[in-house]
Amino acid sequence: MRVSVFGLGYVGSVSAASLAADGHEVVGVDVNADKVEAIHHGRSPIVEPGLSELLQQGVAARRVRATTSTADAVAATDLSRICVGTPSRRNGSLDLTYLLRVCQQIGEAIRDKPSYHVVVVRSTVLPGTTHEHVIPALEAASGKTYGEGFGVSVNPEFLREGTALTDFRHPPFTLVGHNHAADAAPTLALYQHIDAPLLGTSIRVAEMMKYTSNAWHAVKVVFANEIGNLCKRVDVDSHEVMDIFCRDEKLNLSSYYLKPGFAFGGSCLPKDVRALQHRAQELDLDMPLINSILPSNRLQVQQAIDRIVDTGRKRIGLLGLSFKAATDDLRESPMVILAEALLGKGCALAIYDPNVSLARLVGANRQYIEERIPHLSRHLCESMDDVIGGCEVIVVGNASPDVPEAITRCRPDQIVIDLVRTPLDFSRVRAQYDGLCW
Ligand SMILES: NC(=O)c1ccc[n+]([C@@H]2O[C@H](COP(=O)([O-])OP(=O)(O)OC[C@H]3O[C@@H](n4cnc5c(N)ncnc54)[C@H](O)[C@@H]3O)[C@@H](O)[C@H]2O)c1
Repeated sequence: MRVSVFGLGYVGSVSAASLAADGHEVVGVDVNADKVEAIHHGRSPIVEPGLSELLQQGVAARRVRATTSTADAVAATDLSRICVGTPSRRNGSLDLTYLLRVCQQIGEAIRDKPSYHVVVVRSTVLPGTTHEHVIPALEAASGKTYGEGFGVSVNPEFLREGTALTDFRHPPFTLVGHNHAADAAPTLALYQHIDAPLLGTSIRVAEMMKYTSNAWHAVKVVFANEIGNLCKRVDVDSHEVMDIFCRDEKLNLSSYYLKPGFAFGGSCLPKDVRALQHRAQELDLDMPLINSILPSNRLQVQQAIDRIVDTGRKRIGLLGLSFKAATDDLRESPMVILAEALLGKGCALAIYDPNVSLARLVGANRQYIEERIPHLSRHLCESMDDVIGGCEVIVVGNASPDVPEAITRCRPDQIVIDLVRTPLDFSRVRAQYDGLCW
């Protein structure tokens, strides 16, 4: 393929050299004439192991060249990859100056180009940037319509500096966000040699992925360091702890606990986080990340309370009261906190949780219910239909298997607020549906 790469920094020069190594014809573009000159002579414009050698081979084989002329690069290629910087402004917002300038330049260059040109955003940009800034800038400068005269897709970069060439060749996956198959096809063709899953998605999801990944990586580093600091104070080998921690691929390093939904609760997570915090306090050790866990969890309960109160309706049905489905354990259940808050706001509650009803009759939790939450106990109903029949808002609090079918029985005048993303066939849902964080 014939590809132009805009921005010959860490991302762009690795892309240019690697794509040329795969046999593509690459034109690199940068406003910095020194970088263009470096590529011209087969020298890497950045320090990255192996990059100079790869560039040298590409230049020698006449598969890579560089220029400062956008018009030349766009005319000579079918696909332009934007790899310019998107730095932070002082207040943390993204500085889109370079991105918008390059869009304007590419737009001007495709104005008179008869063939369909695809622009790929490789730079890291926040969700909405492509639709709100990139496409309008390209349309304004080219005089063409997106999807007719030119295409746009988003293909985030996941490489790490220092191992960039290997990362380019072995990414976790190749992600292409697009609205039209024609805009994804050239990028998918470019990655034919790469042994990684190819994932197609919407432009907004592709934009969000890089931020989600980087925030997660940052959390991992800080979490490991906070655990390490505590381990050192209590004379425990932090590396042995984390090595064993990483052996658990069921709960620790897995997709488990990574589904946006409601707050955690139960008899273990809140208690154990508190105990860790308390021990650290005794040791005069600050652990800001771990200290932020319970307040953040409490905010998630508040989000749900606000959402329910904002409906303006007073007859509220709760499906689920225990901290998760298939248990009667009510200790530190966020649904209990939610129910108490709604009662405090003057709502009329009807609660259905088959496990809690059973526990009220026979279980070990009977005493807990009678002593700790008698005020909620009197709102418990014996059937799901008692809740659905008489309430204006139905809140799904845990994912018990009979809930999805029950939701399909809700009327169009009812509002369903789903805290756990219960699996639903939306073609059968007549009520107004609102998910907590999706
Ligand atoms: N560095 C990384 O490890 C990495 C990894 C993944 C994603 N990213 C993202 O990729 C993007 C690029 O990062 P980088 O580290 O390669 O940036 P960089 O600053 O190293 O390189 C950007 C290049 O763009 C050039 N440029 C600016 N305006 C231009 C224009 N109008 N035309 C042509 N070239 C122009 C600059 O001269 C510079 O050489 C950023 O959005 C970054 O967040 C970076």
